[in-house]
Parts: sequence; structure tokens; C-alpha cells
Amino acid sequence: MDADSARPHAGRMLDFYLGGTLHTAADRAAARRMLEVNPHLITSARVNRRFIDRSVRYLVGSRGITQFLDLGSGIPTRTPEYPNLHESAQAVDPACRVVYVDNDPAVRAYAAELLTSTPRGRAVYVEADVTDGAALYERPEITGVLDLTRPVALGMNALLHFFADDAQAHGLVEAFTGPLAAGSHLTLTHITRDWAPEVMDALVRLYREDVTDGGARSRAEIEALVGGLDVVSPGVVNPADWRPGPGDAPVPAEQVNLYALLARVT
Ligand SMILES: C[S@@+](CC[C@H](N)C(=O)[O-])C[C@H]1O[C@@H](n2cnc3c(N)ncnc32)[C@H](O)[C@@H]1O
Repeated sequence: MDADSARPHAGRMLDFYLGGTLHTAADRAAARRMLEVNPHLITSARVNRRFIDRSVRYLVGSRGITQFLDLGSGIPTRTPEYPNLHESAQAVDPACRVVYVDNDPAVRAYAAELLTSTPRGRAVYVEADVTDGAALYERPEITGVLDLTRPVALGMNALLHFFADDAQAHGLVEAFTGPLAAGSHLTLTHITRDWAPEVMDALVRLYREDVTDGGARSRAEIEALVGGLDVVSPGVVNPADWRPGPGDAPVPAEQVNLYALLARVT
């Protein structure tokens, strides 16, 4: 366990919501306080992960993408229902190459579990801060794994709501998608107050007090974040409604309180 395990950590709280085992007493206590405000958080976290699995499989299977850069990866999941990104990608094409990036030592502590690549593919973890922007693309751990002259799928899932400033969040999307080859894609999920404003306002307040800074965005604000990109059908939607598979039951938007999108870099 990392030295800072006395403080709740957003990534380990997510692990608690997903039914994992990588969380501390402080994480559980904070997560339970959040659940008192929004009992649907568990549903929301799970819908988010199911979206990641489906969108990654779609990117490999239908768009031919085999390289992934996952920003704000979070800690690994251990439940087969919510696979880690490289497991989803390599289940479709075992040659997929995946770079995970996070800035939290709590993630580093578990990163070895993210590195269970197939022999034909790669999965690596890089500790870095996304606010360093495109400088990340010069790091040898990334250039040694991803061919940036070919399309890459960039993941910014449940990340940008930690950047309440619109200019900064938009700047991150531009900085990371700008250098990518045409045909690259971005997946993004983001909390919203569009469907349950009072609950989400209370939740964001509590997260700010207990865990970390951040804020919700409306559909229009999220569309503006990806303004220069070509959003793929079905658009900016409740992630439960994003190309659901046969095992994905509908989940009401006021329980999910997230938007998801897949966009193409042109
Ligand atoms: C809620 S988790 C999301 C995990 C995963 N992407 C998902 O959607 O399930 C957000 C992650 O973003 C990471 N993060 C937040 N700010 C970051 C930054 N400035 N640089 C890198 N990672 C950051 C956190 O450490 C955390 O692990």
C-alpha cells in the first residue's frame, strides 16, 4: 500500500464502486459518504467501465485501431466483467499495444497488474502528469511502444472532470489530439449535472471537500471540449446507450450522470 493510504484516493474509491479489492479504510469511508449523497455511483462507475470495454473492442474490430494511450488510467480492475483496457483490446487483436498513464503513486503501486500483455502485444505503464501535455509524446517509454505516425486511440475516460477550468480541459484535448495521425480517435467520459442537478452538485461539493478538485459539465460544454473533432454516432450520450451489446441493459441517465463519446481525429 502506498505511503498516502490514509487519504482517500479517487482511483481506489472507483475500485470500491467496481467491487474490487484494492482500497483502504479511508477510501471505503469516503466512498460510503459519496454513496449517501448518490446511491447510484456504483451503477455509474460500472456503466463507465462497460463503455470503455465496448468502445475499445469497437475501435479494434470496426476501426482497425491497434494502439492505445490511456490517460488517467486509474488502478487495475480484477473483475472479468470490467476488464482493463489492454485486456479488451487484446481480446480482439492480441497484437494491440497499450500505454497507460497516471500521475498518482497509488496507481504506480498496482501498475504491475496492468502489464499482463499478450506475448504479441505490449502493455506499459508510464507515471506522468497530463498537464505536461504533448511533451509526453517525446518520452521513450511511449515512442518505444506506439508508432505516432499511425492512428492511435486516446482515452480520456473519467479524467477531464478533474479539470474544472474549461480552457485547461479544452487545452488538454487539443494538446493530446493535435499531434495524432488522421484516423486516430478519442474516447471520453465525463460527469454531468444535466439529469440530476441537485444530487450531482452535492456530490461534486463533497468530492472537492474530501478527495479532489473538479466539476460537472453539460452536454454542450462537453461538445465544446471536442469541438475540432468528428464525433462518431450515436454522439454525446449516456454511456449505457453507446452501442450497447446484448448483455447491456438500459440504465436511466439520472442514475449514470455521465456522458460518453467517441470522436475521430480528421
Ligand atoms: C476516476 S479515475 C478514472 C479511471 C479510468 N480511466 C476509468 O474511467 O475507469 C481518474 C484517474 O485520473 C488520474 N488523474 C487525475 N489527474 C491527473 C493528471 N493530472 N495526470 C495524470 N492522471 C491524472 C487519477 O489519478 C485517477 O487515477
